[in-house]
Amino acid sequence: MEKFLDDRSSLFYFGLAAGISVAATAQYTASFFQPPPLPAQEANFGEFSRKSETAAPLRGAVNSPLSTIGQDLESSPGTSKTIAKLEKSFTVTSQKLNEIVKHFASEIKRGLAQDGQTLKMIPSFVDKRPTGLEVGTYLALDLGGTNFRVCEITLDGKGTMRNRSKKYTLTEDLKTGTAVRMFDFFAECVESFLDERRSGGDPSIPGSVEFYKTLSNGHMEEEMLQLGFTFSFPTDQTAIDSGTLMVWTKGFTATGAEGQDVVVLLQEAFKRRCCLRYYQRVNVHVAAMVNDTVGTLVSHAYSNPQTYISVILGTGFNAAYVEKVDQIPKLKGEPGSEMIINMEWGAFDDEHSVLPLTPYDRQLDRGSTNPHRQTYEKLVSGIYVLLDLVSTGELFSGKQCAALLIPYGFETANMSRIERDHTFDLADTKILCEEVLDTQTTYDDRRIIRRVCELVGTRSARLAGAGITAVVTRINRLDGCTVGIDGSLYE
Ligand code: GLC
Repeated sequence: MEKFLDDRSSLFYFGLAAGISVAATAQYTASFFQPPPLPAQEANFGEFSRKSETAAPLRGAVNSPLSTIGQDLESSPGTSKTIAKLEKSFTVTSQKLNEIVKHFASEIKRGLAQDGQTLKMIPSFVDKRPTGLEVGTYLALDLGGTNFRVCEITLDGKGTMRNRSKKYTLTEDLKTGTAVRMFDFFAECVESFLDERRSGGDPSIPGSVEFYKTLSNGHMEEEMLQLGFTFSFPTDQTAIDSGTLMVWTKGFTATGAEGQDVVVLLQEAFKRRCCLRYYQRVNVHVAAMVNDTVGTLVSHAYSNPQTYISVILGTGFNAAYVEKVDQIPKLKGEPGSEMIINMEWGAFDDEHSVLPLTPYDRQLDRGSTNPHRQTYEKLVSGIYVLLDLVSTGELFSGKQCAALLIPYGFETANMSRIERDHTFDLADTKILCEEVLDTQTTYDDRRIIRRVCELVGTRSARLAGAGITAVVTRINRLDGCTVGIDGSLYE
């Protein structure tokens, strides 16, 4: 392993490594959202072209997918009425999107001016973007939401990198138990990742044997390994290696973490492992912590210097961007420099003044672990609508479907599969309903289900597009810049 420097720039490297652990970012140009030339650098949503479009939800931000599937099959007038009703409540108009973009602009300013605002606009203490010339091998740990990964990142100095990683499952018990138990689990995972390398490598970690050889100097146990931590929750950072968890999101409720420095929590978990393993020390130092949005931005900028914004579309929904320090009144930093800001935009419009909430959104919010919080984030998902249609008799002839009653039981991947169903009678949707929902469907049922998926997906895409437009406008890059995107929903 490369020698670790102990100056500030080495901390930046760990931040970068932490970022790459959430990599596999996709490039997405902001200009994609832009209709041609706009007056006075102001973003605007023109009318969407109304051609049939069945690609991934984000493409729907531009083209409104009108369902034409199965038009040659007879469908009942009741179904068409139901679909028309759904279209009315889920379509976000261009006018509404413009309103959202405007509201975003003023909320961004407020969040940069002082603490305690709806948009937290958290300085990340990552004050430069990579050049692509950075080199070295670093350890990283990534806690996102659904998955937890330990990674070993090698930067080659030419804008490309290798990532060897292992995924671990975080059970509901761990997410909702105590922080000590959860952080102990992270330390155990890192320990087993390192053990596998020491013992000649685990075939499930490609290249780990080679890495073990590099390390076989006889002093393995004593080597201090430096680690970058990607922690994807709102954290009030005071330095790149220090930050207090403000509030859990994404269904996490582990006690004893809110209000605590998560770097300290992790470091202490490693210390506890050291005591347990008197025969072989787990010598890890937590050198940097970044939010996943910040990590995505730096890792994407490593290979593409035009990256100024990043977005996570996954279990959670958030963005980061590069801001000029003199535009961040609450920071009182050095003028002329820049700082990556973790926006925590999932909380946008928690006061419910501009986002177009349907009764389904309100129901999802009430049933969540954090009611009245993360309004924007919750809007970019939400399949509660199917349950309601069963209760009104518009779906499955009113016959209850047990699988739909399981909270979060209907995964986004199913929505994507339904949207991809191009068969004339929606045959794949039929199979999916049998397999996933254990329910027989009529063609009318399938048309409704398909339309709900399209509408929810398209709404998500448009709302996400509004946020990105607000940021692109804010940093004055309407003529084009790269947005690094990552997350299971996007994928
Ligand atoms: C949630 C978290 C945020 C994270 C996002 C994506 O919104 O609060 O910190 O970036 O999920 O994982």
